[in-house]
Amino acid sequence: MKRVFSGVQPTGNLHLGNYLGALKQFVELQNEDECVYCIVDMHSITVPQDPKELKAHTLDIAALYLAVGLDPKKSIVFVQSTVPQHAELSWVLTCNSYTGELSRMTQYKQKSHGQESAPTGLFMYPVLMAADILLYDTDIVPVGNDQKQHIELTRDLAIRVNNKYGKTFVVPDGRFLKAGARVMSLDDPTSKMSKSNPNEKSRISLLDPPNKIKKAIMSATTDSDGVIAFDVENKPGVSNLLSIYSALSGKPVEDICAEYEGHGYGDLKKALVEITVDALTPIQQRYNEIRPSQELVDILKDGTERASVIAEATMKRVKENFGLGL
Ligand code: AMP
Ligand code: TRP
Repeated sequence: MKRVFSGVQPTGNLHLGNYLGALKQFVELQNEDECVYCIVDMHSITVPQDPKELKAHTLDIAALYLAVGLDPKKSIVFVQSTVPQHAELSWVLTCNSYTGELSRMTQYKQKSHGQESAPTGLFMYPVLMAADILLYDTDIVPVGNDQKQHIELTRDLAIRVNNKYGKTFVVPDGRFLKAGARVMSLDDPTSKMSKSNPNEKSRISLLDPPNKIKKAIMSATTDSDGVIAFDVENKPGVSNLLSIYSALSGKPVEDICAEYEGHGYGDLKKALVEITVDALTPIQQRYNEIRPSQELVDILKDGTERASVIAEATMKRVKENFGLGL
């Protein structure tokens, strides 16, 4: 059995792209591997956060994870700041990283762009991420493609420390989420569905009510030739709707195209509204039950305990190898 680790930032809501591109795959992995899923609240404070909102979002995201099917009996689900070894290991790794390699991280360059002086936390972000991963002797890290560079840095740091201080860390591999699982914006199907798009109708959030889902799908951009066919290059809008349909229903795209041969886009959209509402309703029901419950807090506390056992063992090894402590 391999150890899987992934981290998610505590944001209040998730959209269909997050669900099909990440969460659904996290849920599938827990049947084959030993999974550790961490809500990375310490990563969030690299940019200013409202304290009340941050705490609420941490619980929101934990509840959503459980609602989509993460099973706390199979997986460890916990909050990063409740296991202090993340910060502790982050310092040790900081002392083994170089400003040059951190300056080359594209996410840092994008986020600090145009600022004369950027927050140090933004600069150190990838080292904290490496600490998250290495703390759990992780074999596999399922993440989006945008995290590739951070995974490379994590591997470099692990190898560097192992060479210098003797075998300390497992060198992890990234598992980059399937390209086919990319969900595109409903208003502009050439760009990715994203929480930062100001147009609300560009995305479907997992907690959207049926009328909002309906509005977003019925107004989705298509094209004018009226043929239901999968052709990402020439028919990106219709192809996106077909991909979502297929992912939510489990039907192959070809079967859906055959079923809707001769029909207009309106028919396809109406069916997609129904399928989406059917897929999200049970998730929303579970979410509404779990979110205000004591059970949620208890699950996260149990996660902290189980994560701590692994984290303490790793830190003990790190301290021994580095000559830290008595
Ligand atoms: P983000 O909140 O954008 O950092 O994304 C969190 C996770 O969801 C990452 O693993 C992304 O790869 C995935 N994700 C975000 N947007 C999409 C999308 N439109 N399609 C597929 N996966 C996505
Ligand atoms: N940086 C990741 C993101 O923005 C989140 C993250 C933090 C993470 N620590 C991690 C992902 C460890 C995987 C493993 O998506």
